[in-house]
Amino acid sequence: MSEFSLFSPFTIRGVTLRNRIVVPPMHQYSAVKGFPTDWHLMNAGKFAAGGAGLVIVESTKVERRGCGTVGDLGIWDDVFIAPLRRIAGFIKEQNAVAGIQLGHSGRKARARRPWEGDGPLAPTAEIDDWDAWSPVAPSAIAHGEKWPAPRALERGEVKDLVQAWADAARRAEAAGFDVLELHGAHGYLVHEFLSERSNRRADEYGGSESNRMRFITEVVEAVRGCWPDHKPLFVRLSVEDNAGFGPEQSVRLAKILKPRGVDVIDCSSGGITDAAPILGREIKYSYQVPLSEYVRRHADIMTMAVGLIIHGDQAERILQEGQADLIAIGREILNNPNWPMDAALKLGVEGSFRHVPPQFGWWLGTRHKRGFGTRPSTWQVGLEVGLEENRKVL
Ligand SMILES: Cc1cc2nc3c(=O)[nH]c(=O)nc-3n(C[C@H](O)[C@H](O)[C@H](O)COP(=O)(O)O)c2cc1C
Repeated sequence: MSEFSLFSPFTIRGVTLRNRIVVPPMHQYSAVKGFPTDWHLMNAGKFAAGGAGLVIVESTKVERRGCGTVGDLGIWDDVFIAPLRRIAGFIKEQNAVAGIQLGHSGRKARARRPWEGDGPLAPTAEIDDWDAWSPVAPSAIAHGEKWPAPRALERGEVKDLVQAWADAARRAEAAGFDVLELHGAHGYLVHEFLSERSNRRADEYGGSESNRMRFITEVVEAVRGCWPDHKPLFVRLSVEDNAGFGPEQSVRLAKILKPRGVDVIDCSSGGITDAAPILGREIKYSYQVPLSEYVRRHADIMTMAVGLIIHGDQAERILQEGQADLIAIGREILNNPNWPMDAALKLGVEGSFRHVPPQFGWWLGTRHKRGFGTRPSTWQVGLEVGLEENRKVL
């Protein structure tokens, strides 16, 4: 047990994470017809080897219509199990826990990749199933002005979709993942059911708040029916969507989901309107942490904090202050895949280089012992020690 919460093992149900550092789901836009490629193995692999406790594979779609853009991962058929197993297996070989997020993009399906500009995709020769990829949603309400109106799901299709999430969970289990996260945030299908803006249904899935929460509740029940008891289940929510669904609603939802087997609420925000920011466009360190703290305190459920958490001491403080149980490091781990090792070093955790495999950890540790660290504050000291060593050699 480390003196630092960030580096203490953490057990949820029957699964133990070696530390509380989580790589959140991040799309790679690199799948081919839903199938993972070597890119996914390399990407998840480098984070697992970098020392994270849990690596969650990107939003993987429960049906073709739910793909957000070109290159989304799929899990809508058993053929995806074997290639996904290779990724889960490699993550576990690196002593990290393998997680996967299940998702469906709803009315935001068939969109451009972010660097091509926000908005709907135009047909290209590359896409041979354009019509089969038509966006569906709780109601025929477009996401924004430039977006096409989706087709409203028939009641029977909603039931089929609940089953699609459960089938996907069964496949994730067969592929060897040990943590499952359901994507209920960022203005995608589940969130579209929750929000009054996008859900005007007249049946039992729309109208009152409890009706709007029915879809995610049924999904959780169905998923829990085939996801083993000893494996944790997370739900990502936009705890504040700046469009009517806020922390109080999120707490009420968490209280419904917890007794149905949800262990952790992953606390994100935004995405239901073009105006509501995701990825912290208001730019502030820890900008979503208060949402995590609020849900944790009022719903008495474990939470994961995410969003502009960049430094080790920042992450440690969030845990010490009881604002979250787990810390997700997204873009900063893209910048530095060995973030856990680096954070351990900067915090002064003993054996920092043991957070990564000896193939490179040993070499970095040896270099560090000779005074060449990665800590800016010791750069000068390191330089002097290095010079001293060189003198000895000379
Ligand atoms: C490249 C990229 C892809 C992302 N893909 C997903 C995704 O698949 N599912 C999801 O829930 N969030 C996704 N996100 C959001 C991240 O999981 C995370 O919540 C966000 O980046 C904020 O955390 P950060 O400031 O540490 O990056 C993505 C973010 C990035 C940068």
